[in-house]
Amino acid sequence: MLALTVLLLPLLSTASVHNHRSHDHSHDAAKRLPNTWYHRSDHPVNSLFKRGAATDGVTYAVVGADGWAAGYPAGPPATLDPSSMPAEWTAALNDAVARKAIPDVPVSTNANGSPVYPTGVDPNSPEVCSATFKCRIAGDIWDAPDGYVGISFDDGPTDASDTLLDFLSANNQPVTHFIIGSNMIWNPAQFTKAFNNGDDMAAHTWTHPLMTTKTNAEVVAELGWTIEIIHNSTGGRIPKFWRPPYGDSDARVTAIAREVFGLQTIIWNQDTEDWSLTNTPPGTTPQAINSSMTQWLTGSKSPGLIALEHELSEQSVASFIAAYPVMKQNNWKLASLAQLMGNNASYLNAASSTADVIGFSNILDAKGGAAASAGGSSSSAPGSASAPAGASKT
Ligand SMILES: *[C@@H]1O[C@H](CO)[C@@H](O)[C@H](O)[C@H]1NC(C)=O
Ligand SMILES: *[C@@H]1O[C@H](CO)[C@@H](O)[C@H](O)[C@H]1NC(C)=O
Ligand SMILES: *[C@@H]1O[C@H](CO)[C@@H](O)[C@H](O)[C@H]1NC(C)=O
Ligand SMILES: [Zn+2]
Repeated sequence: MLALTVLLLPLLSTASVHNHRSHDHSHDAAKRLPNTWYHRSDHPVNSLFKRGAATDGVTYAVVGADGWAAGYPAGPPATLDPSSMPAEWTAALNDAVARKAIPDVPVSTNANGSPVYPTGVDPNSPEVCSATFKCRIAGDIWDAPDGYVGISFDDGPTDASDTLLDFLSANNQPVTHFIIGSNMIWNPAQFTKAFNNGDDMAAHTWTHPLMTTKTNAEVVAELGWTIEIIHNSTGGRIPKFWRPPYGDSDARVTAIAREVFGLQTIIWNQDTEDWSLTNTPPGTTPQAINSSMTQWLTGSKSPGLIALEHELSEQSVASFIAAYPVMKQNNWKLASLAQLMGNNASYLNAASSTADVIGFSNILDAKGGAAASAGGSSSSAPGSASAPAGASKT
């Protein structure tokens, strides 16, 4: 397994992306995951998670059952120890570094919640391109297509997810959840409810750190464990998208996500600041969110809207519920963010949470290299405890 992984990964760097229609996003930073030569069993991401459909004889523990969470690391305030992650993940990282696919950007330090780079390192330079500093890496997603709201919620599953999920279900509105992996251990019922609603699951990391402050191996562990628990809790589905906590990614972190796990990075183009509603003192108010939302929803539809929203608290959920009819009244098209940006495939190996888990080759063939694409070719394929303090925000 290890040898296979190491052997296959070098192919990623030399392959080029074909058959994409032109669109807003450059593929300069996404030169991998081509659309022709993968087969299910030899996709490198596949080997990292031993994933597969139930028809392959892979079985997964029942979500929330005894033992289901036993194999995962602790959540916050613990930080991840990359030395205890599976050897395949380390090998995949080492390979990506060896083929110079991971830019040698210095790790930032966390200064009161803000990433600070060493003196002389410009966060807005093309080499670093920090999303915290609003530098947009080619291939990362910040905008929805014109006329669309791509709907997503960060930081679930939480106690407040129930209110959100009941509302979404009553309105037949699919959305994307950027999941904090360790939150699933505390709130498995909400995760399962969202998945059974047909919502799309994407990764938001395991302990919700500023990712640019993490070493390469720590970045791999944060993403890998989150993918693993989503994979093991959705019948083998592999997320196609991740969103960095606090929107903090840079050329190095984005490259690790892409090269090791085939993940595409999604940021946002408007911030509701709903995560700060429950701060002491509150960082915003329902009125302020109403006013921002009104402005965005009655303004230009080009580009489309990706608003940062959270299922962190009843208050943050309420601000979405209040804005939802206004989205419809203003004739926006509403879609799950992962469906919208993934050409109707929310996972690397499944079109959706309800469609079958299929081979990577099928997804990639049908979507024209879907994993590398930010809106390219068209598609034809088919009871919880409380979260611990500290696993929150943005
Ligand atoms: C994920 O599921 C696979 C297949 O059942 C299993 O081998 C693996 O141990 C699970 N991972 C964890 C962390 O429980
Ligand atoms: C803002 O609040 C008003 C008054 O309650 C309401 O009618 C309107 O739909 C709200 N708009 C948004 C975007 O939440
Ligand atoms: C995605 O599916 C919807 C509904 O089936 C369809 O209207 C839309 O054109 C599809 N989008 C793409 C990019 O294929
Ligand atoms: Zn977050």
